[in-house]
Amino acid sequence: MKIREAIKGVRPYQAGKPISEVKRQLGLDDIIKLASNENPYGCSEKVRQAMISAVDSINLYPDASNYELKKALADYLGVKTSMIFCGTGSDLLIRVLCSIFIDKDDEIIMGDISFQRYEDSAKIMGGKVVKIKMKNHRLDVEGMVNAVNDRTKIVWFATPNNPTGTIVKKDELLWALDNIPKDVLVVIDEAYKEYVTDEDYPDTIPLLNKYNNIVILRTFSKAYGLAGLRLGYGIANEEITQYMNSVIGPFDTNLIAQEAGIAALKDEEFLKFIVEKNDEGRKYYYKEFDRLGLNYIESQANFVMVDTGKDDMDVFNKLLRKGVIVRPGSLFDMPGWLRVTVGTMEQCQRFVKSLEEILRGE
Ligand SMILES: Cc1ncc(COP(=O)(O)O)c(C=O)c1O
Repeated sequence: MKIREAIKGVRPYQAGKPISEVKRQLGLDDIIKLASNENPYGCSEKVRQAMISAVDSINLYPDASNYELKKALADYLGVKTSMIFCGTGSDLLIRVLCSIFIDKDDEIIMGDISFQRYEDSAKIMGGKVVKIKMKNHRLDVEGMVNAVNDRTKIVWFATPNNPTGTIVKKDELLWALDNIPKDVLVVIDEAYKEYVTDEDYPDTIPLLNKYNNIVILRTFSKAYGLAGLRLGYGIANEEITQYMNSVIGPFDTNLIAQEAGIAALKDEEFLKFIVEKNDEGRKYYYKEFDRLGLNYIESQANFVMVDTGKDDMDVFNKLLRKGVIVRPGSLFDMPGWLRVTVGTMEQCQRFVKSLEEILRGE
């Protein structure tokens, strides 16, 4: 088969284990999944109702222009509709960005412990991935900017970063934007933005007025609790948005997702509740990890990295047998660590109790 050479080096993404798989493999019934940074509270009731109503029109194709959804997003964000593009999760948008910007041997720059899909998507296009070592578990913004050269097409800032949960601070981002050449794209991936409580977190929308080379990516998968629906969006200048809209397929958002997105933006109370609960959960983890003497990374997202000081694959497998699914750090080149999602308080407690038992050898 005449498979493109570039594709041969691309490996399938290893997603968090689904509950159904663990049930099947281990014969367990009572399982909690804290592996994929999903919202443990589900979605807003108002969104659920909007989705149920939308089912009545499911025989129709969705509006290929996403008119109502873009209008709702534009009002919400205070930007023009012509600056918004939508897709089946920000994952699709990452791939589309790479298909627009990356030719063979072009380079992207990312943190060495950051979201793997930037790497995969660049490789699919035959691009080269330049990974800059993290500094104290944070993206080394200066190092990333210094690595820019003539072949660089995209610099990826995941903020909060997955899996470390750390942010790029306002002064760092502004410095980066002032020092990255104007023809290099800077993608600011804000998948976990809603969870941030740090006051140094930049409001990036106004930056679109000053910098022409930025794309902001956001998603309904995390705080809005709609991961299974697949809806993400991006904001950029009109030229980039036009190219995005030319490459994104006409039906790369679905009819139910369009209605859900509109309803989700209106339910501010739900979002507030989720953000408060998440903050409580993060603090609970910190307190318990301190008690257990475990090192962890303070997170601005809905997950925390914790250093078990043991073989993470072993701890991961023992947790699975106790019905708790997390993500082993080895997957992210952080052996010994686990990435655990902030669940409901009951789920967080169950994780801590199970981890404590395993560390005691039980
Ligand atoms: C940093 C980051 N960006 C993007 C995504 C993709 O999210 P989705 O495709 O569900 O919008 C994720 C998912 O985990 C993520 O962690």
